[in-house]
Amino acid sequence: MQDKTIVIAGITGFIGEALSHRFLSGNYRLKGFTRSLEKAGKLEKLGIEPVLWDGHSLTGWEKQLEGADALIDLTGENIAAGRWSQEKKSKILNSRVESGSILTEVLRRVNSGPGVYVQASAIGLYGAGGDIELDEDSPAGNDFLAQVVKQWEASSNGVESLGWRRIICRFGVVLGRDGGVLKRMIIPFRWFMGGAIGSGRQWMSWIHIDDLARAIEFLISREECRGIFNCTAPHPVRNREFARTLGHVLRRPAFLAVPAWVLKILLGEMAEQVLLSGQQVVPDRLAKTGFTFRFPYLEEALKDLLAIYRGQSDFSIK
Ligand SMILES: NC(=O)c1ccc[n+]([C@@H]2O[C@H](COP(=O)([O-])OP(=O)(O)OC[C@H]3O[C@@H](n4cnc5c(N)ncnc54)[C@H](OP(=O)(O)O)[C@@H]3O)[C@@H](O)[C@H]2O)c1
Repeated sequence: MQDKTIVIAGITGFIGEALSHRFLSGNYRLKGFTRSLEKAGKLEKLGIEPVLWDGHSLTGWEKQLEGADALIDLTGENIAAGRWSQEKKSKILNSRVESGSILTEVLRRVNSGPGVYVQASAIGLYGAGGDIELDEDSPAGNDFLAQVVKQWEASSNGVESLGWRRIICRFGVVLGRDGGVLKRMIIPFRWFMGGAIGSGRQWMSWIHIDDLARAIEFLISREECRGIFNCTAPHPVRNREFARTLGHVLRRPAFLAVPAWVLKILLGEMAEQVLLSGQQVVPDRLAKTGFTFRFPYLEEALKDLLAIYRGQSDFSIK
């Protein structure tokens, strides 16, 4: 798909950055939406055409979607940073639903196309799944995050009727070098204080960021792919297994569990829904499309991501 135009909203984030590196090396023309003038300058230096928008109202940016072959929406207020006040919860919901709605509205006005629309979503849709294996047909949960994800996905419901191919990517826990959860998880290991979170029995459905970027590019390029796709590696693990593997890769012990009650006191509902419960999700539909993972197993994924820290007595991550 050379020389196609790809527009990414939320390009300045952790996943947006990884995706843009992939697309830039593939000779795509890339446009990136951001709310920040400063970040727009940085995008320009990378060879990405910056577009300023506010994520919820029409201020002129909409003409930049004219001629787009693919639109990827990665926007959203960060979920895992701190306690959820009422204000934070509103931002978590509105930042996603408003951008999904306004982008759908703009696609209605675009004269070119139709193209493909990819919306980020999350496996939080399934709620606290216990030990049940979940695929794309599993029902949604009822907690706050599940409600958010339901409304988030619904915000782009109109896209298909416009003739655009709509792909919803339910991301698992994305593991990368330069951000996301892994960057924070390795800190206690550095001080020989790593271990499981709570009981450690909760499932973690993770994906290596390179596989996520490859999966998105793959789905965009396959005309027959549409609808919902779980973007998780085929072998999820329990949290204690994750901690053990991380300790092994970093050559650090992994036996200091963080008690659930401490996290509940410090982080409240966020800890309960994000850290102390999880889902055992499988990428059923991705597997059926013929997509192959470079990193199906956690140990190889962590070795690849953390190779530069192994064996160092004072490793740190920027
Ligand atoms: N990382 C994970 O493990 C993971 C897992 C499941 C789902 N997801 C979802 O995948 C998406 C991307 O994740 P990420 O880790 O890359 O997130 P991130 O690093 O926090 O980046 C989010 C992006 O959203 C934009 N944004 C934030 N609030 C906005 C608003 N109100 N209106 C418009 N844009 C807004 C920001 O762009 P500007 O500041 O430049 O405008 C930023 O580039 C998010 O929706 C996230 O919930 C991520």
